[in-house]
Amino acid sequence: MPDSILRVLTCGSVDDGKSTLIGRMLFECGRIPDDVQRALERDSRRYGTVKGGIDYALLVDGLAAEREQGITIDVAYRYFETEKRRFILADTPGHEQYTRNMVTGASTADLAVLLVDARKGLLVQTRRHATIASLLGIRQVVLAVNKMDLMGFDQAVFDGIVTGFTAFAEKLGGLEVTAIPVCAVAGDNVISASDNMAWYTGPTLLRALEQAAPRAAPTEAPLRMQVQYVNRPNLDFRGFAGTLASGTVRPGMRITNVMSRVSATVSRIVTMDGDLPEAQAGTPVTLVLDSEIDISRGDVLAGMPAPETANEIIARLSWFDEQPLYRGRSYLLAIGPRLVTATITKISDRLDVDTLEEEPAGELKFNEIGRVSIALSQPIPFEPYRVNREMGGFILIDRVTRNTVGAGLIEGADRVASDVHWHKQEVDKFARAALKGQRPAVLWFTGLSGAGKSTIANLVEKRLATLGRHTIILDGDNVRHGLNRDLGFSEADRVENIRRVAEVSRLFVEAGLIVLVSFISPYRAERMLARERVEDGEFIEVFVDTPVEECARRDPKGLYAKAMSGQIRNFTGVDAPYEAPQTPEIHLRTVGFVPEDLADQVVADLRRRGLII
Ligand code: ADX
Repeated sequence: MPDSILRVLTCGSVDDGKSTLIGRMLFECGRIPDDVQRALERDSRRYGTVKGGIDYALLVDGLAAEREQGITIDVAYRYFETEKRRFILADTPGHEQYTRNMVTGASTADLAVLLVDARKGLLVQTRRHATIASLLGIRQVVLAVNKMDLMGFDQAVFDGIVTGFTAFAEKLGGLEVTAIPVCAVAGDNVISASDNMAWYTGPTLLRALEQAAPRAAPTEAPLRMQVQYVNRPNLDFRGFAGTLASGTVRPGMRITNVMSRVSATVSRIVTMDGDLPEAQAGTPVTLVLDSEIDISRGDVLAGMPAPETANEIIARLSWFDEQPLYRGRSYLLAIGPRLVTATITKISDRLDVDTLEEEPAGELKFNEIGRVSIALSQPIPFEPYRVNREMGGFILIDRVTRNTVGAGLIEGADRVASDVHWHKQEVDKFARAALKGQRPAVLWFTGLSGAGKSTIANLVEKRLATLGRHTIILDGDNVRHGLNRDLGFSEADRVENIRRVAEVSRLFVEAGLIVLVSFISPYRAERMLARERVEDGEFIEVFVDTPVEECARRDPKGLYAKAMSGQIRNFTGVDAPYEAPQTPEIHLRTVGFVPEDLADQVVADLRRRGLII
């Protein structure tokens, strides 16, 4: 059996014939079981788009039944082999919105096949795929120019596309491009050379794949293993399972838990097939150590020199969410098995995929690629992506929807940010709060404009003052005249508005105060961020729930009338969204109640929580 493996990423746009091309390769390489072949012939007669012949696309799309069933398998892997080597194809759907799948499939690929429809030529999508492939470290690209039959097998058409792509690839730097004119439906230049294009003397697609050099496994690099889980079936056995991201491990080697900086010696390398004398990058193993050191899931075990750790990183980020990325938003960041909270502190620039220039940017839109700084809730061990893909690649996950919204490549630590250390303070918030005889907290009033937030917050503050509590009020209308004078009502400005208020609230909590915050704060994500800036139990979300019709009827500032007549834009509840809290600590339905009663409800609740006596 051939032992070299080539991992291939295939990407293209809708309808450029990718399924047909892949189907044909799988088919002609003869590794399709008989029953699948018979089904294919039958389906081709029934549903096929190729008259009287076999529709190879059905082979691929049919195998991808998981898509119809709605199971989210982002990347479909297909295996085939020739006498020369084995292939693993990562096939990613070609629609615009599937760029994210491409990033997932590309992280292990040796080579990318970019499909172009000869009739359409290079599309933005083609350039974007080439850019992402290059950023991800793929150095070999096969440009398969398909549907040559529909362009009369014309060499000039092919040459035109190749010239355009070569110029672009040069700007990406260091890409090795092989361009091949093909007709996937008829098989020209896929497995065997085409009689229709005698002018082409280069390799067929299969030959190009057989000739490509697989990426060298990083076995020489220092040892790195991200711990997937701690295997402890009984008291006598404790093993650390994971796949070696780089390096070679042998019993007797010293390894260090990067986060705790504690070391131990490897005593066994356990696998399903017995112990190994040695294991290399890419191998899943369970390591047993000679002494009990503290190691948990997500930790990195490393040889020397150990990788660095940081809680502020700079990364290239590819953004896939329909909602743009703004500074100040926070997400979950998954790197290997480790999950941390991540806040975007800076968007430095955006890559223009036509010119490959980096331009200043305040946000990243759907499918854009940019450079960002990210603050993490705890330090992570990492290496730059160009040094180690596993240790430097991550994804961002939306905290509410749990969708993967971005993929990033770490460039390094943001030392400027990391060097600003918190002063270790002797007098802490508990000491300060104790002086006042109270527990600090944030009462976060959220709701539509005119819902009654400020009125109720003011009444609550009065009652707390009577009880001898030390408070402070932060009110949208007032703070927007001072600290947040520079902000308007666009989504990005509102995100920043709430981020600042969340930070200020946290500082006041550190001061030992009870903070009453009264902002529309329409987005769940930012309210969640505010919640996480303080400790469990310190954040009390008060949903001032007044239906928009009622707010518009009261219209204390005359703003609803203006918004409805179009004089002001982006007005919450009219032409800007409000994401109501799902599980607020306190839910005040205001209709039918006077503000005094509602304030009493809040105070009673604080008492129940033991925040006041
Ligand atoms: S937030 O959405 O960013 O949280 P914030 O609470 O600071 O809003 O400010 C809301 C107040 O600004 C409203 O009570 C209203 O007086 C005023 N305002 C002016 N324009 C708008 C608008 N387009 N949308 C909402 N409120 C507005």
